[in-house]
Amino acid sequence: MDINRIITLDEFIIRQQNEFAGATGELTGLLRDIGVAAKIVNREVNRAGLVNILGIEGTENQSGDVVQKLDLYANEKLIECLKNSGECCAIASEEIENFIELPGIHDKPAKYVVLFDPLDGSSNIDVNVSVGTIFSIFRRKSDFTGPSNIGDFLQTGLEQVAAGYVIYGTSTILVYTTGHGVNGFTLDPSIGEFCLSHRNIQIPKRGQYYSVNQGYYLKFDLEMRRYIDHCSDLNLGLRYIGSMVSDVHRILFQGGIFLYPSTRKYPNGKLRLLYECNPMAFIVEQAGGKAINNHLNRILEIDPKELHQRSTIAIGSPDMVDEMKAFVERYSAVTS
Ligand code: AHG
Ligand code: MN
Ligand code: MN
Repeated sequence: MDINRIITLDEFIIRQQNEFAGATGELTGLLRDIGVAAKIVNREVNRAGLVNILGIEGTENQSGDVVQKLDLYANEKLIECLKNSGECCAIASEEIENFIELPGIHDKPAKYVVLFDPLDGSSNIDVNVSVGTIFSIFRRKSDFTGPSNIGDFLQTGLEQVAAGYVIYGTSTILVYTTGHGVNGFTLDPSIGEFCLSHRNIQIPKRGQYYSVNQGYYLKFDLEMRRYIDHCSDLNLGLRYIGSMVSDVHRILFQGGIFLYPSTRKYPNGKLRLLYECNPMAFIVEQAGGKAINNHLNRILEIDPKELHQRSTIAIGSPDMVDEMKAFVERYSAVTS
């Protein structure tokens, strides 16, 4: 086979399915439909500067953040595509208080639930900086013949069957894993297809940058301040975009560490375990990286208690996460 031949996302996921005995194609269909939603959101993100869709909607989401119009648009499109897919029985979104049951198609019971952050980094939209979409897929635990329940969503990250993100940047890239490595697909706008561009992504063991909102430095715990001082001592550069997808995307390719520790405003961290931390942790671990919280627990092992639960996070290159862990162990007994 010609190795230069273009491999589209659809072709890739079907090929992957064929490698697993017993695969029925349902997950394949679901991933394909998420790819379609990503293209629709991408079109709108790109048009955002032209049409009157910009600006604050004037409401706050479940987690108290200001919601912008494009968040709602992305949210609606994802729900629509998942509804039409017929493979997803219920969804949960960062923008919606409770999970939503989706009607089945032709009485066929759907096996999966999908959780997503429809637009990550939404404060960046008005200023033309990269934003993203994050998704996480679980097999439902409840009886397929009845309605789904909260237990279908409150599973540990280890139980994810797939997770991914889309970054709407200088180009639009979809990165996903089903637990067999991580692959990236770049949208070719001329043919409207995601094409395989980054095969078997491996995160570097360390990188030249650390990524944290250093404006909150004085609000961090002592051990975190010590670790940040250490990064500065090592002459590491600081990069912080304000969109976790964009920051983690850079780290996946160039190495580094992303931190959202506890602050006075967000003692349990700001980021959502189910919509942000778990899917990104699954991807980063699959690429050889690590993700822990500030109690040094592996993100993927945290037992979620509620849909909108927050978590602190340190995620990225394995050696850097280990080093941060050592700082926390050394300084956390000392009071600031
Ligand atoms: P969202 O736009 O989905 O609410 O997520 C924004 C998140 C995350 O992407 C980013 O890293 C972080 O919030 C930035 O928060 P600060 O402005 O507090 O640093
Ligand atoms: Mn987000
Ligand atoms: Mn969001």
